[in-house]
Amino acid sequence: MELPDAIKSRKSVRKFSSKKPDWRDIIESINSSQYAPMAGDIFSMKFVIVDDKKIIEEIAKWAEQEFIAEAKYVVVAVSNSLLVKTPFPKKGEIFSHQQAGAAIENFLLSLTNFGLGTCWIGHFNEEKIKNILKIPENHEIEALFPIGYSAEKKKKQKPKSDIYNILYFNQWEHDRMKKVEKIESRYPEGY
Ligand SMILES: Cc1cc2nc3c(=O)[nH]c(=O)nc-3n(C[C@H](O)[C@H](O)[C@H](O)COP(=O)(O)O)c2cc1C
Repeated sequence: MELPDAIKSRKSVRKFSSKKPDWRDIIESINSSQYAPMAGDIFSMKFVIVDDKKIIEEIAKWAEQEFIAEAKYVVVAVSNSLLVKTPFPKKGEIFSHQQAGAAIENFLLSLTNFGLGTCWIGHFNEEKIKNILKIPENHEIEALFPIGYSAEKKKKQKPKSDIYNILYFNQWEHDRMKKVEKIESRYPEGY
């Protein structure tokens, strides 16, 4: 899959088919997170991959989202912000979350490339899930990712806004892009 396809076709999946994903695709997607930019080149994340049905059901319960229990795998993305806060005392906390986001987007695009679907889960009881997975106190769970093949109807992904609304030139609220210009025209025919 070409990069523009992966970027544009990634979307949240909350209904999974019964087909079990190949775990190697998930491991490779986790590995792609290691190519993301990191402050001071410090990789501050670890991942837990869960395939135990009972543990997945517990995770679904503490995230209060039943569909998670239908996934064959759940990946839990964890940060150790202390690794970043030590060299960057002022901005370490925010850097840690920012680089987690960058790493996670690599992971999501790689899953998309393998034809897999997931949904970024940010609503969960962190304490309970840390307990279940024996994640140390001084680490933070960034998000949970139930993974499977989509059983949803194919929807066309759209940009969240018009580029006109989110981009200024040189100064804030100065010179917007003209509405008639189409960003899509940068891509070759078919994208
Ligand atoms: C930080 C964050 C937290 C989210 N938490 C949840 C969640 O707990 N449950 C859920 O169903 N979706 C969650 N989502 C997914 C968003 O609802 C979804 O990305 C959004 O509706 C846009 O849809 P798309 O991913 O298909 O582009 C979260 C997304 C982000 C980035």
